[in-house]
Amino acid sequence: MTIYQTIKDIPVSGKRVIVRVDYNVPFDKITGNISDDSRMQLTLPSLRYLINQNAKIILISHRGRPSGKSESLSLKPIGDHLSSLLGISVEVLEDCIGDEVIKKTQSMDPGEILLLENLRFYKQEEDNNQAFAVSLSQLGDYYVNEAFSVSHRAHASTESLPQLIPAVAGFLLEKEIFELGRILKSPSKPLSIVMGGAKVSDKMNLMKKLVPLSENILVGGGMAAAFLSASGHNIGISMIESNGKILATEIIAIAKSNQTNLLVPEDVVISNNAGNAESFRTTEANSIPEDQMIVDIGPKTISNFSKVLKTSNTILWNGPMGIFEIHEFSNGTKKISQTIVEQANKGGIILLGGGSTAEAAKKFDILDKVTHVSTGGGASLQFLEGKDMPGITHLMINSR
Ligand code: 3PG
Repeated sequence: MTIYQTIKDIPVSGKRVIVRVDYNVPFDKITGNISDDSRMQLTLPSLRYLINQNAKIILISHRGRPSGKSESLSLKPIGDHLSSLLGISVEVLEDCIGDEVIKKTQSMDPGEILLLENLRFYKQEEDNNQAFAVSLSQLGDYYVNEAFSVSHRAHASTESLPQLIPAVAGFLLEKEIFELGRILKSPSKPLSIVMGGAKVSDKMNLMKKLVPLSENILVGGGMAAAFLSASGHNIGISMIESNGKILATEIIAIAKSNQTNLLVPEDVVISNNAGNAESFRTTEANSIPEDQMIVDIGPKTISNFSKVLKTSNTILWNGPMGIFEIHEFSNGTKKISQTIVEQANKGGIILLGGGSTAEAAKKFDILDKVTHVSTGGGASLQFLEGKDMPGITHLMINSR
């Protein structure tokens, strides 16, 4: 396993250290507050270390997928929360590049922290634009990747920037590489992958590569609709991305030719609205009415999935089984998390991946009962494919 240099290997005292974090955290639609700050909490050891070492810390992050500047995806509330977590003031700048930002970084005191505004307000970030990366590089002496969850993206701040200034790993990134690397090195079979949640087409592209490596693939949550549609079922008003059905059809074919057992829901919970817990019912997956959408997996599916999970030595769980934030639609996610813990107690290797899976795991109190909870959803899948990750490849290697 490649060992990368970390913040402990570089002389950060008095230096400007750019730390790429992933503060793309969920917000509660009703209260407007951060609903799960785990991704922020997990960066605190690196930040505290850098503060104690008298580094000048410049945090960069994305939030959401904005097209242009948008107040609703500003990092300001995240800066306020970070400030309360660290107990020191964290200034959030209006921009992430430019003369004003450079000046600000040059007048920082040791131990001070700045958070720059959302990188994705610039299209150049996702385009992996060189000039944009050069502008970012002018802000610091060192680069730290503490954002495993976005390290599968070849973006300016993840792939180009670490090629411009000396780049090392933060403690969280180091831990993710270690834990996932252990699983990758010797996966204990049978391996079952449970897929659900949002960002369906992103994950389906990664799934294509993982299907041949696993014995079982269990599909629930937001992804189920694409597979049911590809199997010829009506999915009512359930949302699927334009290429969802095509990708699901491809995955079904890959599973068949590799003799991977692919399980889709046999029954589902449906409602006429994703937020309507007043009216819902269970139905067979092949008889979803036109005006209804899938909001959870049903009891027969829970039982089918649980039987398979109970025979699995390694389980990768990526994405909830339904809209678990709403009590009435959370049964599938809750029951699957309970079965997963039973397997963990029997010595199974359990890896949870992605922000919403971690949020569900927190809600059902299984976070500390599994082998590893990765901050990365797509990132953990890509890592487990064994492929190079754009955000990791250019970090300095530790030759010790
Ligand atoms: C995530 O939430 O998975 C990461 O922040 C990456 O976000 P992205 O899928 O929009 O690149």
